[in-house]
Amino acid sequence: MADGGAPGIANAFSDVDRSDRTAELLAMMEEMDANPAIQRLGAWAFERLAISPGESVLDAGCGLGFDTVRLARLTGPTGRVLGIDFSEAMLSSARERQPADVTNIELRFGDVTALDLPDASVDVIHCERMLQHLEDPRIAVAELARVLKPGGRIALLDTDWETATSSAGSDEIVARMTPFTAGIARSRRVGRIVPVLLHDTGLEVIGVEPAAVAPGPTIINGFAFDQMPTFASLAGTATEDEAREWVAEIRRQFAGGYLAQFVTMIGAVARKPA
Ligand SMILES: C[S@@+](CC[C@H](N)C(=O)[O-])C[C@H]1O[C@@H](n2cnc3c(N)ncnc32)[C@H](O)[C@@H]1O
Repeated sequence: MADGGAPGIANAFSDVDRSDRTAELLAMMEEMDANPAIQRLGAWAFERLAISPGESVLDAGCGLGFDTVRLARLTGPTGRVLGIDFSEAMLSSARERQPADVTNIELRFGDVTALDLPDASVDVIHCERMLQHLEDPRIAVAELARVLKPGGRIALLDTDWETATSSAGSDEIVARMTPFTAGIARSRRVGRIVPVLLHDTGLEVIGVEPAAVAPGPTIINGFAFDQMPTFASLAGTATEDEAREWVAEIRRQFAGGYLAQFVTMIGAVARKPA
């Protein structure tokens, strides 16, 4: 089901510990967590999940644990949150960041496509910007549905990189370069189908919500944009010079405060039939 992403850095978030960009990936995640559009979409998902004190929660692909902590506060001291991630670097940074007053979190190394959890054992699942890094997100969604209790709720939030737009350059170069804005994603269109993935797994979708996300300075000035011209020229989509000029124009507009560059994230929340 993998639908693209550029070679070379395509597996950066799929296997963070083997990437030579770990520090940059962590900085990108901090920037994304502070992004206002992502925060609004996250708040929408938390509201729909309607977590009650004492519930058990799984944060699948928890990364630096920003949402893991928010989920822990919602379920409270009588509840429990398990954060699972495929990167020891992420988990150790998440452990360091954990506030002292939050004691109901367990952070564990694991693969979301093969969870070491019993069937029907979790009340609530949160999974944000993780599916795009998998070869076949359907395997992960089936696993998440398996461990969800009847009556449990799940939120998937992910990106549709195909929707990337930019005020920089001509319409034509924007259309040609769009596939390369997802250099770090293996399944770059998964955002648009998150509700369908939930529905096809037998879950009842109770809400779908979009968000237009603008990249911040760490991302715009970082390696993902640096490498786009090389990937575009390797794919024969644009010459290296054309692509380089496009990235330079994005950076000029951003520095001048008049860039409009967005990609759509989609959130979907579902309930497992009781
Ligand atoms: C872009 S980060 C998002 C992290 C977090 N959910 C957030 O919203 O800040 C993607 C995370 O998915 C993790 N990941 C990738 N493949 C995974 C897998 N198969 N199982 C578990 N985690 C995985 C990565 O290590 C990374 O921490």
